[in-house]
Amino acid sequence: MKARFKEFNSKKFSFHNDPVLVLEDFWSKEDRDIFQAAMDKCEWKRRSEIPEVSGTFPGCGDWSKAEIAQSEASFLLDRVTLPCIPDFIESFPRIKQRHMSFSYYSYGVGDCLSTHDDIGEQYAGTQKPKQVDEGGRERSQQPFSALRRIAMVCYLHNEWDHDWGGELIIYDNRKGKDGQRRLEVSYCLEPKPGSIVFFTVPRFHRVCRVDPLANDHQRLSIGGWFMTEHFP
Ligand SMILES: [Fe+2]
Repeated sequence: MKARFKEFNSKKFSFHNDPVLVLEDFWSKEDRDIFQAAMDKCEWKRRSEIPEVSGTFPGCGDWSKAEIAQSEASFLLDRVTLPCIPDFIESFPRIKQRHMSFSYYSYGVGDCLSTHDDIGEQYAGTQKPKQVDEGGRERSQQPFSALRRIAMVCYLHNEWDHDWGGELIIYDNRKGKDGQRRLEVSYCLEPKPGSIVFFTVPRFHRVCRVDPLANDHQRLSIGGWFMTEHFP
């Protein structure tokens, strides 16, 4: 579903009934200013400079990624953990631990992300993502085997024009009459400033290439997952 945040009732929404949630005007200008100021101080790495992911998504440009500092991670988790998220996460059996992993991303002209479903190591490579607990505190970087349950992306730039590309496309994976599975577009979402998107994983999606018409404008986002680790 798609709604303005102030009109959204999380208690009436369930990811079991609707796997995609789009909320507009989730972050105010003041909220975005906080993240943008933090992003200015970050140590950004280009995709090509991250050995674990440099070989993934060939031809997808050279977007940048940065870690979120603890204070902004706490602010983020305070705000994004809507009641419908634990309702979904806790519905899985034999949970040993909950994990979250979020990062800043910056896409400029020519950057995109080809179709994938957030399952497997293709996207994450072999890196151990920065993990934070429910209070936003950084966890030790112990290896773990967690399943991504809900993906989240939100947009923090101040301006985005229809012609600048960078849309998030989310697909339905439908079985046709011939028994073959086909992807059909279910959502095409412009990266509207202040909006946030959640969807259950696995789910095929991609980020459209940022158009040269965007010039120097960067598509600034936070992306990542709510995950669960399970007892054997
Ligand atoms: Fe993804």
